Amino acid sequence: MLSLSWLGLGQVAASPWLLLLLVGVSWLLARVLAWSYSFYDTCCRLRCFPQPPKRNWFWGHLGLIQSSEEGLLYTQNLASTYGDVCCWWVGPWHAVIRIFHPTCIKPVLFAPAAIAPKDTVFYSFLKPWLGDGLLLSAGDKWSSHRRMLTPAFHFNILKHYVKIFNDSVNVMHAKWKRLVSEGSTRLDMFEHISLMTLDSLQKCVFSFDSNCQEKPSEYIAAILELSALVAKRHQQIFMHMDFLYYLTPDGQRFRRACRLVHNFTDAVIQERRRTLPDEGVDDFLKAKAKAKTLDFIDVLLLTKDKDGKQLSDEDIRAEADTFMFGGHDTTASGLSWVLYNLAKHPEYQERCRQRVQELLRDREPKEIE
Ligand SMILES: *[C@@H]1O[C@H](CO)[C@@H](O)[C@H](O)[C@H]1NC(C)=O
Ligand SMILES: *[C@@H]1O[C@H](CO)[C@@H](O)[C@H](O)[C@H]1NC(C)=O
Repeated sequence: MLSLSWLGLGQVAASPWLLLLLVGVSWLLARVLAWSYSFYDTCCRLRCFPQPPKRNWFWGHLGLIQSSEEGLLYTQNLASTYGDVCCWWVGPWHAVIRIFHPTCIKPVLFAPAAIAPKDTVFYSFLKPWLGDGLLLSAGDKWSSHRRMLTPAFHFNILKHYVKIFNDSVNVMHAKWKRLVSEGSTRLDMFEHISLMTLDSLQKCVFSFDSNCQEKPSEYIAAILELSALVAKRHQQIFMHMDFLYYLTPDGQRFRRACRLVHNFTDAVIQERRRTLPDEGVDDFLKAKAKAKTLDFIDVLLLTKDKDGKQLSDEDIRAEADTFMFGGHDTTASGLSWVLYNLAKHPEYQERCRQRVQELLRDREPKEIE
């Protein structure tokens, strides 16, 4: 026995490569064990949440919700079946807790960032496009920028945007009237509303009128493409890996659209920096606010943190791109969902109409803020 073990050790000592291999394999084994244990632990904790039937063990619930009317009805059905929350598997490893009830959502939204950190998997798909804007940034950068952006949402600035929203909606209504007069009885509102919200945003963020609701705009098309590509990538588990994704035609398309969008934002920032006065910034601002031409880019260019430091061009681009994305997608989805439900439930539609008419009684349409 003794001589045997001597023999074995002697061989190992004689070959450092074997030793290295041994260390490597044990390290890998330890990692796999630690990972399995933590995964098992997570699964145990998730057991307290109800779980809708999966497609199978590998895909989990991936692909069960399509971007269609059926998808929305399926989600609505989830909410009415499970009420508060349910557990949702995106592939074999990644669980998502879907929260439906406002009283359950509230504590999550109020929780400090240290307790409820941002998602890192799905948000990473947006990173090359949106950079370190408010949506994706965290920690000190997030809180400092959050404070710096507060003036952009002052009531006096937002008030002037109502006219822009109104103009964009008027364009959409005119289009709908035209389509109806040409005999259309059904239309996919989401596309129209997305264009309308993007039109409004481009005017509010950049003071740029691309007339995108009437004629194709390269920039707006790129934003719509990026949003669609991110949603598609989410559904394709192998595409979650960057190195695979950027080898595919979709990944290439994503890169190209990112370049186009960044180029647009960069050009506006450069142009605006040139026209910005070195002194008398306050008067310049006041004049712009008075003429109602102050936009998001102006506010970003002029804002300072508590040490008097301004945002870099890269930061400004990230915030502007973030609001172009965050502002159009959520609003368009919300508005479409509201209109869909009002169309389905005429009695509520009537109540809303009455309420609006009550509020607007004795007021000129021009005065609405
Ligand atoms: C970027 O924008 C400039 C001017 O706005 C344009 O001349 C140039 O072709 C654009 N480049 C790309 C890659 O889109
Ligand atoms: C909104 O548009 C309508 C229709 O053109 C117009 O009558 C109204 O005055 C506008 N309201 C505002 C606040 O711009």
